[in-house]
Amino acid sequence: MSLSVSAIESAAKQALAAITGAKSLEELKAVKIEHVGDKSAIAKLNQSLGSIEATERAEFGKVLGQAKASIGAAFTAAQQQLEIERDAKVLLEEVVDVTLPAGNSHKGGLHPLTVIKNEVSDYFLSQGYSIAEGPELEAGWLNFDSLNIPADHPARTMQDTFFIEPVESGLVLRTHTSPVQVRTMLTQEPPIYIVSPGRTFRADELDSTHSPVFSQVEGLVIDKDISMAHLKGALDDFAAKMFGPDAITRLRPSFFPFTEPSAEVDVWFNNRWIEWGGCGMVNPKVLETCGIDTSVYSGFAFGMGLERTLMVRQGIKDMHDIVEGDIRFSRSFGLGL
Ligand code: DAH
Repeated sequence: MSLSVSAIESAAKQALAAITGAKSLEELKAVKIEHVGDKSAIAKLNQSLGSIEATERAEFGKVLGQAKASIGAAFTAAQQQLEIERDAKVLLEEVVDVTLPAGNSHKGGLHPLTVIKNEVSDYFLSQGYSIAEGPELEAGWLNFDSLNIPADHPARTMQDTFFIEPVESGLVLRTHTSPVQVRTMLTQEPPIYIVSPGRTFRADELDSTHSPVFSQVEGLVIDKDISMAHLKGALDDFAAKMFGPDAITRLRPSFFPFTEPSAEVDVWFNNRWIEWGGCGMVNPKVLETCGIDTSVYSGFAFGMGLERTLMVRQGIKDMHDIVEGDIRFSRSFGLGL
């Protein structure tokens, strides 16, 4: 193509028409190769600048420069416009309807017993207590002797206790959480404010109210000038937390080897008294065993069954429901759905 103003103008006109005619970024890309790039008519005209007289070069150079500039500007404008259109289209096509119903797959949830255990722990943590733990496989001495449960106590017979072979190992599956009291007093200086929720074991048949594996929460407070009034206050507040603001507790005289005096705790719930657990002032013999100066410190302790607490509060009639692990039971508490 020989260089002339009309050739430049016609090439520019075609390029501009092609650019404005491109309907998509893909089309524009093809237009670029043909009308804007190195092989385009305008590029070729530009190359031929070199073979003309120097006197004409300036003039043609100027016209070519203007043509190239307007093609370049038109191309950039078209590209920007088409990108805006593409983005708008993508947004529309990929829109997510957040009002559509979600897939209702079951994610799993905590067992109601775990939930109540956490609830108890959280409550006592909020009262300034710490959580203490002990092993389920416990030394017989900690489970019994240290708690002033003598060798001839009924709780030590083969009936109640799972002994571990060889029997000379002295190990048992703990029959209550009370050994955690002793473990704590042996390793910590008073003041002591702890609760220890955990699993406990007794050689009972599984029936509607018993399970050989069950859970207790033990509470222990050792400080200066601790009296039964503190125990009663702590129990009333705990009861209100677990059973609602109207719940109060009643203490009935009882006997436990590790507390003196001892009491059964009843809770007023649904217009009747319900047996809830045991409690008392820590027996000075136990304090002495743990090396605590009884002329300075006294304390109270309590122990409740967690399954029982759950059953009473939720109106669960059968222990089987708690231990069998049928997911429909957990689901009825609305957990993890
Ligand atoms: N350890 C007792 C049991 O398993 C429950 C108990 C009663 C715990 C009185 C205590 C307490 O701390 O003071 O039957």
